[in-house]
Amino acid sequence: MYRLRVRLALVAVIASVMAGSLQAEHVYKKAAAVNDLMAYMVKPAMDQIKVFREAGGPADKDEWQTAYGAISMVTEAAQLVLMDGRVKDDAWSDGAEQVIEAARSAMLGAYRMDANGYSSSIRQMQTGCKTCHDVHKKDKE
Ligand code: HEC
Repeated sequence: MYRLRVRLALVAVIASVMAGSLQAEHVYKKAAAVNDLMAYMVKPAMDQIKVFREAGGPADKDEWQTAYGAISMVTEAAQLVLMDGRVKDDAWSDGAEQVIEAARSAMLGAYRMDANGYSSSIRQMQTGCKTCHDVHKKDKE
């Protein structure tokens, strides 16, 4: 009986340690300045999207995949500007949230190779950039 209780107690300890380690999320800690997120994550992605736009849109499966990947970087960057104390005011968080929502929809458009859905979502996404930039970017678009 004693042994069984010890064994049960051990199992309980192991189970709670495992549950703990499964739940322990990585804590995000910012490394990049917002300007660098823009310059090295958002801008290269937008440059790629612009190349496709000037050519009349992504032309084949590979290009749609590239467009999808580029927009996914913009989506990630827009989440990063909301994290670890970067938010400055409502224009900041509203702008970033608009970008995230529209960028997700543009990703879906790219995934489906749906040119209309994709382009209108990209335009919407740029409204989100402007919402934040109007207040926080010195040389406005
Ligand atoms: C939450 C606010 C916010 C959002 C949303 C945002 N930006 Fe920015 N962006 C900034 C800030 C802040 C700067 C730096 C402004 C400065 O220092 O003058 C910046 C700078 C930039 C720059 C200049 C980077 C350089 O080379 O120095 C580019 C390009 C840029 N943003 C593109 C975008 C695009 C495209 C989007 C939308 C997809 C976007 N940004 C969305 C805040 C934002």
